[in-house]
Order: sequence, then structure tokens, then C-alpha cells
Amino acid sequence: MSEQEDRTFFDTFMLVLAFLIVFTIVIFAISNSVANRTIADRHHQTADAAERLAERIRPEGRLCLQGQEEECEVRVAAVTRPAAAEEEVAEAGEVDGQQVYNQACTACHGPGIAGAPRTGDDAAWAARMDKGYETLLDHSINGFQGDAGFMPARGGNPNLSDEQVAAALDYMLEQLD
Ligand code: HEC
Repeated sequence: MSEQEDRTFFDTFMLVLAFLIVFTIVIFAISNSVANRTIADRHHQTADAAERLAERIRPEGRLCLQGQEEECEVRVAAVTRPAAAEEEVAEAGEVDGQQVYNQACTACHGPGIAGAPRTGDDAAWAARMDKGYETLLDHSINGFQGDAGFMPARGGNPNLSDEQVAAALDYMLEQLD
């Protein structure tokens, strides 16, 4: 190989090398700028993404101490809350028989499941009425095993008070003619 040929080869080689270096730098710059845009979004660094994130992880409620309402963002909710709570207590005080019935009795006595006398079925209830109200109430509260099936105490809901069970029984009997 002559010296001239060597030179040409070397020059070409350098040219290719230079091109590769420039090419690498350009690719690096492009990928960097693309990454900056997309990764920033994925990591919630754009204003929009940060806002959406804050909305998603926003706490349901905040403890707002009396006297510190000024610092509380949710002070409107905190101030109106006691009034609403009082109302709820007032409502819980008076027992709604229909509501208890719908919650604890209708599952069996609505369709007449497993031998339960159907609500509003006069014939089915006639014989039971003869037992007297006190007995029916006792069976409602403490449960009853009869020929037709098993009536669980308090309709299977031990959280019900005697008053609630009585109100549900009253509602059930009111549905008879
Ligand atoms: C899991 C089903 C079921 C639920 C829930 C249920 N009952 Fe009963 N109940 C029965 C069955 C079955 C009988 C019939 C038992 C028998 O006479 O053999 C019955 C019978 C009765 C009787 C008649 C008892 C008697 O001495 O003849 C009353 C009263 C009664 N249920 C009230 C209620 C009330 C009030 C509720 C809701 C608080 C309720 N039941 C919820 C199944 C249920």
C-alpha cells in the first residue's frame, strides 16, 4: 500500500468517524428533548399533571379544630356539619318501622321464603294473630322455631333494638286487612 493510499484511507476513516460522532450527539439531543417532555408528564412535573394528581389524592375530609377554621380550607363544610349531625340524631331517635322492615324482614316475609308468612297475606297471619301480639313480638325479638320454618331472632340482625323490631312487626301487621 502506497503512502498516498494510506492517506486517502485515513482521511475517509476520519470523515466517517466525525460523522458518527456528530450523529451520536444529534441523536442524544433529540432523545433528551423527547424524554424531557414525556418523562416530565409521567412524573407529574407539568402543571396540568400535578393538578390532576393533587385532585386524585385529595383527602376526603380534614380535621378542623374549633377556633382554627381560618386555616381550614374546608371550613364551610366543618361549620355546617354539626347542624346536619343533630338532624341525623333526631331522625335516629324516632324508629321508622317500614325502614327496619325493609332492611331486616322483607327478605323472607316479602316473598314468603322458607315458610315465612308473607306480609299482607291475611290467611297466613290469621292463626298467628290468635297467639296474641305479645307472643308475636317475643318471637320477633327472640326468634321462633315453628312447623313452617325457623324465624331468626331480630330477623337475624342482632344490632336491632327491641323498639326497632317492634316497629317493624307493627308495620308488618299494618299491612293486613
Ligand atoms: C331469614 C328469614 C326471616 C327473616 C329475615 C325474618 N323472618 Fe320472621 N319468620 C320467618 C319464618 C320462616 C317464620 C315462620 C316460622 C314458623 O312459623 O315456623 C317467621 C315468622 C315470623 C312471625 C310469626 C311468629 C309466630 O309466632 O307465628 C313473626 C311475628 C315474624 N316472623 C316477624 C319478623 C320480623 C319483625 C322480622 C324482621 C325484624 C322478621 N320476622 C324477619 C323467617 C324470617
